[in-house]
Amino acid sequence: MDQKRQFRIVGKVWETPDTATFTLQAADHAPFDYLPGQYLSIIFDTRSGEKRRAYSFSSCPGVDALPAITVRRVVNGEFSNFLLSHAKPGDLLSTTEAHGRFVLPSRLPGAIFYIAAGSGITPVMSHLKQLLFSENKGTPRIVLYYANRDSRGTIFKSQLDTWMREFPQQFECTYFFSREKDAAHSLNRHLSNRLLEELLVRHFGGKIGAATLNDTLFYLCAPKALMRMAEMTLRVLDFPDSAIYKETFTPDLQLPQRKLDMTHQHTVIAESRDERIEFRTYEGETILNAALRQGIALPYSCKSGICLSCLATCKEGLVDLDFAEATTRTGPGQTVNTCIGYAVSDRVVLHFE
Ligand SMILES: Cc1cc2nc3c(=O)[nH]c(=O)nc-3n(C[C@H](O)[C@H](O)[C@H](O)COP(=O)(O)OP(=O)(O)OC[C@H]3O[C@@H](n4cnc5c(N)ncnc54)[C@H](O)[C@@H]3O)c2cc1C
Ligand code: FES
Repeated sequence: MDQKRQFRIVGKVWETPDTATFTLQAADHAPFDYLPGQYLSIIFDTRSGEKRRAYSFSSCPGVDALPAITVRRVVNGEFSNFLLSHAKPGDLLSTTEAHGRFVLPSRLPGAIFYIAAGSGITPVMSHLKQLLFSENKGTPRIVLYYANRDSRGTIFKSQLDTWMREFPQQFECTYFFSREKDAAHSLNRHLSNRLLEELLVRHFGGKIGAATLNDTLFYLCAPKALMRMAEMTLRVLDFPDSAIYKETFTPDLQLPQRKLDMTHQHTVIAESRDERIEFRTYEGETILNAALRQGIALPYSCKSGICLSCLATCKEGLVDLDFAEATTRTGPGQTVNTCIGYAVSDRVVLHFE
């Protein structure tokens, strides 16, 4: 269920003073499949056990010869600092396979809007390459709203500026710089509800009609506060939930902790196409932690409910999902993030793709 790979770093290019792109080659030269918008998780062996961090591909299959990830330094961050300061061409990285649902649909709409901030541009770059350069490229109108402090720290800015010149009919980008005035294609403002609504209404010629509502997609990759604001605005404008794709990189610090009760246990059966594993969880222990404690390799990355690496479909039983904001009870047919999922019924059956 938890497939692992090894990649050799074959290139490291600085994009900004605190961001680098690492080009990767499968160490066994076996094919590696991924979709624009997906990520892989790097697996770090530490004294306190294995830790994982997800990095979205900034490359695009079919356009770039090799997969690449782009990493921004997080202040005091354990592994982003390690990668940027120490990882170098020739080094081997242990990783998972590609995961993620922040991908393009098979039928492309008339317009796609991206709202990104900081390193949230990474999966968007992968999409843009697919839309502008791949053999089966589409023809949607592409609009990017991209928030940063200033142009110097804006990842991929010169590439985006070049694409604006090369594809004036298809691609436009507006930058939002909080600490820089008068840069080309930029607004020295925060992207607020009012401003986003104003920009969208203006883009669609003053009126957002039914045809637009059904033929436009939005991809949001930014800190949660910016995504919440954008989502709220899109709902007010009547865009359906199915038109909004979201990815966030920042784990929730406020995940609720349940009290462990070792006197009460549940049975969990984890199935995939070729495996079936039965194990027990204690009351108050997540399904993922129970599996890892017993040496059972279930897929995961963030352990905080945001990356979706650990998703399974519930076939039988009930599971509580403890998100930071609320607990949701799921049952048969519904998806379960095992990293924040607690078995509620005595027996739970989960199917992994
Ligand atoms: C699906 C997914 C895709 C991702 N793709 C990318 C990518 O393409 N490029 C990239 O640079 N990062 C990406 N990330 C974030 C990445 O996985 C790590 O979380 C990030 O590099 C920080 O790890 P760290 O070990 O340095 O920090 P940690 O030691 O884990 O954290 C240190 C502190 O920083 C906070 N923190 C953690 N992550 C962030 C963040 N992203 N922004 C601000 N504060 C943070 C933590 O809450 C903690 O307080 C992605 C995350 C997810 C879930
Ligand atoms: S491990 Fe990321 S959502 Fe569960």
